Amino acid sequence: MRKVIIAGNWKMYKTRAQALEMLQKFLDQVYETPEDREIVICAPFTALETLSKGLHGTRVMLGAQNVHWDEEGAYTGEISGPMLTELNVRYVIVGHSERRQYFGETDATVNLRLKAAQKYGLTPILCVGESKQQRDVGEAESVICDQLEEALQDADQNNLVIAYEPIWAIGTGETCNAEEADRIIGIIRKQLKNADVPILYGGSVKPGNIDEIIAKPEIDGALVGGASLMAKDFTRIVNYSPAA
Ligand code: PGA
Repeated sequence: MRKVIIAGNWKMYKTRAQALEMLQKFLDQVYETPEDREIVICAPFTALETLSKGLHGTRVMLGAQNVHWDEEGAYTGEISGPMLTELNVRYVIVGHSERRQYFGETDATVNLRLKAAQKYGLTPILCVGESKQQRDVGEAESVICDQLEEALQDADQNNLVIAYEPIWAIGTGETCNAEEADRIIGIIRKQLKNADVPILYGGSVKPGNIDEIIAKPEIDGALVGGASLMAKDFTRIVNYSPAA
């Protein structure tokens, strides 16, 4: 049985005060969410300690948005696995397209970060996905397979989550249609040694499309950006109803 995961990616949004405000509203509303759904909030580093305290004793897991491959060192601006686990962080996003696009992340550094996450007891959420231009010239599948092959070299597939995030669907309001996301996620699953790795869809997931997305057989959950910032929207997303 594959795990269902709904993860919010807050990106560079929310001060600590704003994070706490959102959390209080959200926790008040998710008590009825079925237990078999893992809920994760991947917050900015500065909000992690506050959220760690606020989430203590709740079912919501804490995630971060990056991790360095060394335990410590002269790496200005980076954060290590032990710094995150000390705050009860369980998940970490690696290889998000915004990191690849704006901060020079490559498949090789994604692989180092992913293995470090596992080494220090975190579960990496590996993001893969093609650009519009790559899709238009028929390269979506090969781009994704290359990303997977490099990022997963020597990785432990028993402690792993993957998110398929077509770059053209992120923050644009243009969702990949559920059928196509399901097809690509099926291709991703065929590349894996462990068929039970949860594979999420990400890219303009909203209250209005989550039911259709989650109903697809290959899709095990969602990585949600913009719509995870508002308690009402994120609550509706975690309370999806696949039969609708
Ligand atoms: P979005 O972002 O839901 O705002 O499109 C998704 C992501 O970047 O993980």
